[in-house]
Amino acid sequence: MQILTNREGPVLRLQINRPEKRNALTLEMYAQMTSALQEADRDPAVRVVLIHGQPDTFSSGNDLQDFVQAPPAGDDSPVGRFITAISRARKPLVAAVAGPAVGIGTTMLLHCDFVFAAEDTRFQLPFVNLALLPEAGSSLLLPMQIGYLRAAELLMLGAPFSAAKALQYGLVTEVCPDGPAAVRVAQATAAQLAAKPPAALHLIKQLLKRPQAEPLAAQIGDETRHFVEQVRSPEAAEALHAFFEKRAPDFAQFA
Ligand code: COA
Repeated sequence: MQILTNREGPVLRLQINRPEKRNALTLEMYAQMTSALQEADRDPAVRVVLIHGQPDTFSSGNDLQDFVQAPPAGDDSPVGRFITAISRARKPLVAAVAGPAVGIGTTMLLHCDFVFAAEDTRFQLPFVNLALLPEAGSSLLLPMQIGYLRAAELLMLGAPFSAAKALQYGLVTEVCPDGPAAVRVAQATAAQLAAKPPAALHLIKQLLKRPQAEPLAAQIGDETRHFVEQVRSPEAAEALHAFFEKRAPDFAQFA
């Protein structure tokens, strides 16, 4: 199983488990994560969802092979359904990250309520380097959360950045010494949340998210529409082939 789910009392643990591909997310993995999030929202016994990967890897983002072989076709694709599920989750989401947190491995964190990052976390929003576009509403949430100039830096340059910088920019709650420590702090936070009165907690989350709910849905729709075209573009084909051929892409030929 590449997505492991495990109930620990009121906490649903969701672990990304594809270490041989640095936890790159396939269509099947998105579908499993969507089901787990939906089930957590339905089941009153689940109070909190805890999301993490391995001690040295959160996720290298969307499986790049899938972008070539089965690119997303719209909102009703596995990634689209996952984005809808995580962006509308009613219950608190707590994430612990370490190592690579790339692409959707970073943008999904914008939908979490707490993010604990190991010191060695390497965040990256590399969409532009792949001739792709930001997703999961990140083109709205990122400037809202960290400010326009910082969002432009991370999205237009697409360079990796450290946990310290993520903390400084307001993308993470706390930096922890390593991956296991991040999971421990996340578990302790999940336990604290699980002991709170659930109706009040849900309403607080709903009220916090309310101002962004409608613009977010519209932005996700726009992002998806453009993404569906861009992932099929010649410049994206060049970038994706370059990754698998382990060479730098050459965009000089494109107007
Ligand atoms: N999709 C598919 N396969 C991926 C992948 C991805 N997103 N990320 C890594 N892999 C594969 C590699 O191709 C490699 O496979 P191989 O062993 O069959 O050659 C394996 O996972 C290990 O990756 P590797 O690059 O050797 O690990 P690393 O520790 O040196 O680097 C990353 C880790 C995450 C920095 C690097 O793999 C990377 O940049 N991946 C692409 C990230 C990306 O662009 N994601 C899409 C965002 S939209």
